[in-house]
Amino acid sequence: MKINLKTKDQITQMRVAGRLAADVLEMITPHVVPGMSTEDLDKLCHDFIVNEQKAIPANVGYNGFKKTICSSVNQVICHGIPSANKVLKDGDILNIDVTVIRDGWHGDTSKMFLVGKAQPHNERLVRVTQECLYKAIDLVRPGAYLGDIGAVIQEHATQNHYSVVEDYCGHGIGQVYHEDPQVLHYGKAGSGLRLEEGLCFTIEPMINQGTKYTKVLADGWTVETKDGRNSAQWEHTLAVTSSGVEVLTQRSEESF
Ligand code: MF3
Ligand code: CO
Ligand code: CO
Repeated sequence: MKINLKTKDQITQMRVAGRLAADVLEMITPHVVPGMSTEDLDKLCHDFIVNEQKAIPANVGYNGFKKTICSSVNQVICHGIPSANKVLKDGDILNIDVTVIRDGWHGDTSKMFLVGKAQPHNERLVRVTQECLYKAIDLVRPGAYLGDIGAVIQEHATQNHYSVVEDYCGHGIGQVYHEDPQVLHYGKAGSGLRLEEGLCFTIEPMINQGTKYTKVLADGWTVETKDGRNSAQWEHTLAVTSSGVEVLTQRSEESF
């Protein structure tokens, strides 16, 4: 495992990329309504990043992925491919995951949307998953362990009768999109890598209403729950600071 700590100047650059990624999610939010297709949302995000932000959509061409966003609806856990055939309907839940590159540095973030009128069971899944991310962020500081993050996510999810997806994880990030360390969303407090100032990584828990098991569709990308029940995910890119954490992809609706 090759852990790449970032300098203060490098984190300054990560902050710019992170802000741009957060801005994409803020831009797209009013467009997430019944009747919009996930392809429509992808086009809006692509054109905003390229034409207005003068930045690069990192997902385009990443391991053969062709779109700017991952759009994951209902039982789709992650890596949903935007499509003109996927038209959002009242009561859907949607994750939009976007990564922006600016001056070689990556910012990676995702949020959930309740499309139209939310069903209470979906509202609860989305809220508890966000709480999992926030409880994990709260623990990040020099001297904490990666296992602390996994443990708090697992505890909060299972207390709420949900399961934690184990087949996909968070990751180190910087000039490389996915780098060491792997950030598991389950585990044992006090175990694993000890966090240090300058470490930059994502936390991106995927929480299921049913079992943790996943399947990849024939398109080679779309990851769904094996049991067909719904899944939610929220993601931020973080930097470990001397005193705690900076959320590089913070949106204006959030405070840490
Ligand atoms: N943004 C995803 C993550 O959180 C990765 C998407 S890769 C893609 O790490 F190719 F599917 F876009
Ligand atoms: Co990520
Ligand atoms: Co992401």
